[in-house]
Amino acid sequence: MTSRYPSCSMLSALHTERLALSAFTEDDAAELHELFADPRTHTIGSGPFTAFAQTTRWIANRVATQREHGLCWYAVRRVDTGQLIGNCGLFASRTGCSEPEIGYLIAEGHRGRGYAAEATAAVLRHCRAVGLRRVWAGVRPRNTASRRVAESAGMSLDHVEIDERGDLVFYAIDLAPTTTR
Ligand SMILES: CC(C)(COP(=O)(O)OP(=O)(O)OC[C@H]1O[C@@H](n2cnc3c(N)ncnc32)[C@H](O)[C@@H]1OP(=O)(O)O)[C@@H](O)C(=O)NCCC(=O)NCCS
Repeated sequence: MTSRYPSCSMLSALHTERLALSAFTEDDAAELHELFADPRTHTIGSGPFTAFAQTTRWIANRVATQREHGLCWYAVRRVDTGQLIGNCGLFASRTGCSEPEIGYLIAEGHRGRGYAAEATAAVLRHCRAVGLRRVWAGVRPRNTASRRVAESAGMSLDHVEIDERGDLVFYAIDLAPTTTR
C-alpha cells in the first residue's frame, strides 16, 4: 500500500569530494547489471544476478521505496570519470521506515580506496539532515570489510539476530540532533 506520509524525504543527489551519488533510475540498469552480474562484486544477498530482469526489478523496487517512503538508494559514481562504481542507500524491510537500514556495495576493482566509507558518511549525514533518528546496518559476521565500513561511519554493534542464513550482526547509529548550550 502506498503511504501518503513518507517518514522522510531524501534528496535524489548528494556529492562528496570524489563521488556523485544519484537516485537510481532505469537508465542506470545496464551499468548496474555489470556490477550485479559480477561474482567478485555481488557477493551478498541473492547475487550474482544472472538475468538483466533481476537488476531492472531491483531498481524498480528502489524507485518505489523512494516514492512511497522517501528513502533513497544512490548510484555511486566517481566524479573524475563518471563511472558507476557501486551503490549506497537505505531500505526499510527489516527495521522499518523510521529506522531504516543502510546498505552499500563497491565494485571489486575499486575497493580499498575509501569509497564505501565516503559514500556511507555522506548518506548518514543526509539522514541526520532529513530527521531520521537512527539507522541500522545488518552484516554477516564474516563480512569484515562491511563491518569496518559500519564502524568507520560511527556505527556501534547493537545485537545479533539469527535468520535463515545464520547470524546477522546489527550495527546502529543514533542520529538525533546534538543539543548545544
Ligand atoms: C564492504 C565494501 C562495500 C567495502 O568497500 P570499500 O570501498 O573497499 O571500503 P573502504 O575502502 O571504504 O574501507 C572502509 C574500511 O573498511 C576496511 N576494509 C575494506 N575492505 C576490507 C577487507 N577486505 N578486510 C578488512 N577491512 C577492510 C578499510 O581498511 C577501511 O577501514 P578503516 O576505516 O579502518 O581504514 C566492499 O567490500 C563490498 O562491496 N563488498 C561486497 C558487498 C557488501 O558486503 N556490502 C555490505 C553488505 S552488509
